[in-house]
Amino acid sequence: EISFFFPPEETLAVIKPDSEHKEEILQEIQARGFTISRLKDTVLSREMAEEFYKEHQGKPFFEQLVEYMCRGPCTMLVLTKENAVQDWRAAMGPTDPSEAREKAPESLRARFAKDLLENAVHGSSNLEHAQQKIHFIFGDIDSMSIHDDASPALE
Ligand code: PPS
Repeated sequence: EISFFFPPEETLAVIKPDSEHKEEILQEIQARGFTISRLKDTVLSREMAEEFYKEHQGKPFFEQLVEYMCRGPCTMLVLTKENAVQDWRAAMGPTDPSEAREKAPESLRARFAKDLLENAVHGSSNLEHAQQKIHFIFGDIDSMSIHDDASPALE
């Protein structure tokens, strides 16, 4: 039988402020096969939150979202695993917890989100965003430079 090697991928995950379920979420992350490569609690400044969510600038919920994300410490995580970006999106479930409860009852948002705004967790939507946001939150980290150094040699 042929076995394939899938290189590990990194994504940025955030446990949003005021989560009463931080410990459960951290346990669940590990139970689902993600390695927590980096972890820090950070209170985002307004400017940082605006930059973090710049893709949503101009949307009706932008102000509320920025205010919420600055309200207290966020737990910032780099999660590593094969297919981490997509698998973390799947683990979170749909943005809206009522949809999550219907379609993905085991998902983190189904279980831990309060409402559409206070929906417990964030995850990068694609690999490019993941790399950008990891860099934005954690700066240059060793595991990033491994990818950066390795890719030109493969071309
Ligand atoms: S989009 O427009 O399809 O990219 O939106 P989505 O991927 O669902 O992410 C939007 C982020 O904004 C947060 N948020 C809301 N979304 C929709 N409607 C309302 N009212 C709203 N309020 C807040 C939502 O939780 C997403 O945050 P993140 O942290 O990216 O999951």
